[in-house]
Amino acid sequence: MKHKIAPSLLAADFLNLQKEVEMINNSEADWLHMDIMDGVFVPNISFGFPVLDAVKPILKKPMDVHLMIVEPQKFVKEVAAAGAYMMNVHYEACTHLHRTIGAIKEAGMKAAVTLNPHTPISLLEDIIQDLDMVLLMSVNPGFGGQRFIEYSVNKTARLKEMIREKGLDTLIEVDGGVNLDTGKRLVDAGADVLVAGSFVFSSPDPIRTIKELKDM
Ligand code: DX5
Ligand code: ZN
Repeated sequence: MKHKIAPSLLAADFLNLQKEVEMINNSEADWLHMDIMDGVFVPNISFGFPVLDAVKPILKKPMDVHLMIVEPQKFVKEVAAAGAYMMNVHYEACTHLHRTIGAIKEAGMKAAVTLNPHTPISLLEDIIQDLDMVLLMSVNPGFGGQRFIEYSVNKTARLKEMIREKGLDTLIEVDGGVNLDTGKRLVDAGADVLVAGSFVFSSPDPIRTIKELKDM
């Protein structure tokens, strides 16, 4: 299966969100990635549900919502109401992860667990069969435009192997520092979905950059 591209709205021009969403609609992007930060789980605050609600009626692609917040289980209803296709919660933020995954699915969304760069994939051993996707952070979450952590390529390959060994079809998404070089190596290692923020939105021709990320 061809890999998917999910541009991250965090790097968009917030004064022209409608134009940016229309660009995504007209591009080969598969999903739109939305980063919600609370200033507690990560040292930054991005945007919240009003922005998701505003984007929902004009967005023609599935919304991939990445919650970098403590206690994400409290907001399953809001994320579903905002029209999310995929809800990503951090492993490090969920004490009762199995219950949270169940609640996400019951709300009609696909469920994904996100791992910080330091969190080993072995911790997924007893939950991965319940997940639609694992999101590997290839930077420390909180900011766009950071440098790619090289070890993420190896981590992607090992996660792919775990998924294969178990006979599952869990997707692997990778987020942070993705460009044509890191993106190609991640896809070769087994990544199914690549998030790209600054590489897409700071490009002079984002539609073309998305196409290049699709075609590599
Ligand atoms: C970082 C966010 C990312 C971010 C990626 O905490 O989760 O989705 O937008 O940005 P780039 O692609 O610029 O590293
Ligand atoms: Zn993200």
